[in-house]
Amino acid sequence: MTIRFDNQVAIVTGAGGGLGRAYALELARRGAKVVVNDLGVARDGTGQSDAALKVVDEVVALGGEAIANGGSVTDYDQMAAMVAETCDRWGGVHILINNAGVLRDKSFAKMEPADFRFVVDVHLNGSAHCTKAVWETMRAQNYGRILMTASSTGLFGNFGQANYGAAKLGLAGLTKTLYLEGAKNNIRVNTIAPVAGTRMTEDIFPEAAFDAFNPDAVVPAALYLVSQDAPTNAIVGAGAGVFQASYVTLTRGIRLAGEDLTPEGVAAHWAAITDRTGEIVPQSGSEQAQSIFARLAGN
Ligand code: NAI
Repeated sequence: MTIRFDNQVAIVTGAGGGLGRAYALELARRGAKVVVNDLGVARDGTGQSDAALKVVDEVVALGGEAIANGGSVTDYDQMAAMVAETCDRWGGVHILINNAGVLRDKSFAKMEPADFRFVVDVHLNGSAHCTKAVWETMRAQNYGRILMTASSTGLFGNFGQANYGAAKLGLAGLTKTLYLEGAKNNIRVNTIAPVAGTRMTEDIFPEAAFDAFNPDAVVPAALYLVSQDAPTNAIVGAGAGVFQASYVTLTRGIRLAGEDLTPEGVAAHWAAITDRTGEIVPQSGSEQAQSIFARLAGN
């Protein structure tokens, strides 16, 4: 069945270029009314431009409906105003793709605290601001689809990106609580870890790979994850047409007692503690405590 977004309103942050632009265009092609948010900054978050307006023009040129918003995701009041204006104009918000992002890469040894704070502010606090701004609307209409943008750096690490990685894994964490809190109001929350040739990755991709990793090849995952039949609490990797799922798991572990309930006991049993046989994917934090209770009960 064709996935459509007719009569739905979508906000895409950082949609003035790269992945956000690709999401906005395809949402519009499939019937959504789109708010193209972008401050139009350089890769490090400095400067400003009318990038959002250009993407609105592109949407209109293909027969879609879009409005530009030049607010910064770091400013909660601006995000709340964006949502209020969207609701006044189009009556609701059904989809939020938190995509805006910046980079200030440096080894941790050389990273200034201000650059750590700034990157966390844009990605993590910025996504929390936009999500908070749409949350009551989505609860009230009993429908919402929210996509957080993580990254392989957040999930698995990358030299020189401590600030970015901390923010990006934080977004997967935000998903994991919001999916629980949103469930009873039909709000589904997912995380995407894209790999795409954009200005953000232009220094690390060789030219040939840059073409293969066209942002358009990430779009199918992003749009499925904000569609009516989307899963919830998924972490999906997407790049060059390859789609993957990532999980936070918990090993079965081992219960130590007596003389083994010591740092030396942990050292001696490290292989058993980290043995992945029978590991689980907890669906909420309480499952860790439950699994411990189960061990205490001898299971
Ligand atoms: P991009 O640099 O083309 O897009 C990011 C957009 O966010 C820019 O248009 C920028 O103006 C906007 N932006 C920055 N700060 C903003 C703010 N405070 N308020 C509103 N807009 C703001 O980069 P790309 O690659 O399209 O990145 C999109 C998202 O995907 C980012 O969150 C990035 O971290 C993430 N990502 C990208 C990967 C890739 O391979 N390209 C890999 C993993 C994650």
